[in-house]
Amino acid sequence: MWEKKPVLFLLLATATILVGTIVTMVLPFAWINTEKDRIEAVTPYAPLELAGRDVYIREGCNNCHTQTVRPLVSDVLRYGPYSKSGEFAYDRPHLWGSRRAGPDLARIGGKYPATWHYHHLEEPRAMVPGSNMPAYRFLEGAAVDPVLTRKKMEVLDFPYQEEQISALENKNEMDALVAYMQKLGSDIGWRAQAQTEVIGELENPLEPTPGVVAAGRDLYAQHCAQCHGGDLGGDIGPELTGAADTDAAELFRDLWNGLPDGGMPSFNTLGQERIWQLVTFLHNQGP
Ligand code: HEC
Ligand code: HEC
Repeated sequence: MWEKKPVLFLLLATATILVGTIVTMVLPFAWINTEKDRIEAVTPYAPLELAGRDVYIREGCNNCHTQTVRPLVSDVLRYGPYSKSGEFAYDRPHLWGSRRAGPDLARIGGKYPATWHYHHLEEPRAMVPGSNMPAYRFLEGAAVDPVLTRKKMEVLDFPYQEEQISALENKNEMDALVAYMQKLGSDIGWRAQAQTEVIGELENPLEPTPGVVAAGRDLYAQHCAQCHGGDLGGDIGPELTGAADTDAAELFRDLWNGLPDGGMPSFNTLGQERIWQLVTFLHNQGP
């Protein structure tokens, strides 16, 4: 039919491609970073964070990590509210990425204490058994260049103070990368908003049978020991031997929501059953 009328076909094809281009490319460019898109709370990178961002780019972290939470239920449940364009106002270039060999990092800031990141980057398997992320211990031997960093801040027109530049003298690339990790997604304060309010009485539905306690102990070894120590004696996080006396409802709430101010991640993805197994284990810590 149409393909036998080359001129008409050409015109229709051109019109179709034109509409597609306008809708998917031209309009988003016009919309992006308009006043409507700006997010007041999002601030430019500080010098140390910017230096860390460049280490991230140089080391190719974004070959394995994305920095954008897609508007899909599975993404939002795992990483928090989906990304808005205003969150990337200071990202030049953006590091959205396209491949997730590791988890998305758009909201990593505040998920863990800084010490966790140091340990994890030095030796990923020390924090996440079975991780196949490479180790980056060598970054601790590389100094951050204050002069170069100041130039970058000026080119990007980011505000900075002289003290921030002189403070870079004692910093290495690992410090910079960790500062960058803690900045990602932390401006919008979504962690506190994401807390679920647990309404009413919470009671542990599980009996402390040896099976339940053993299941909780296994979960502890997998998800908690790297921060609280294999023997509950404390490490990055506090000692947990006292948790035996903490109210079950309080433990459940802390594990479900995490403790965003202190840097403990939320464990709601484990599901209620497993969290109760953990609570049962904490209440029955005996050998
Ligand atoms: C070969 C792929 C690969 C590269 C390269 C890589 N990672 Fe990872 N990363 C992973 C995998 C897989 C995980 C999940 C297991 C783990 O936590 O170690 C991960 C986890 C992480 C986590 C924890 C995320 C969370 O929510 O628990 C952070 C932070 C991280 N990577 C930062 C980095 C940084 C910074 C770099 C670059 C210096 C980097 N990664 C390079 C594969 C990679
Ligand atoms: C990334 C490190 C990290 C991981 C993993 C982690 N925690 Fe924590 N945890 C912390 C930190 C840091 C605190 C202190 C937070 C605060 O005081 O605000 C804490 C606090 C706690 C508390 C409150 C203790 C107190 O004295 O106030 C309990 C209970 C707890 N964690 C249990 C667990 C359990 C059970 C797991 C495993 C499911 C776990 N944590 C995994 C870092 C971690």
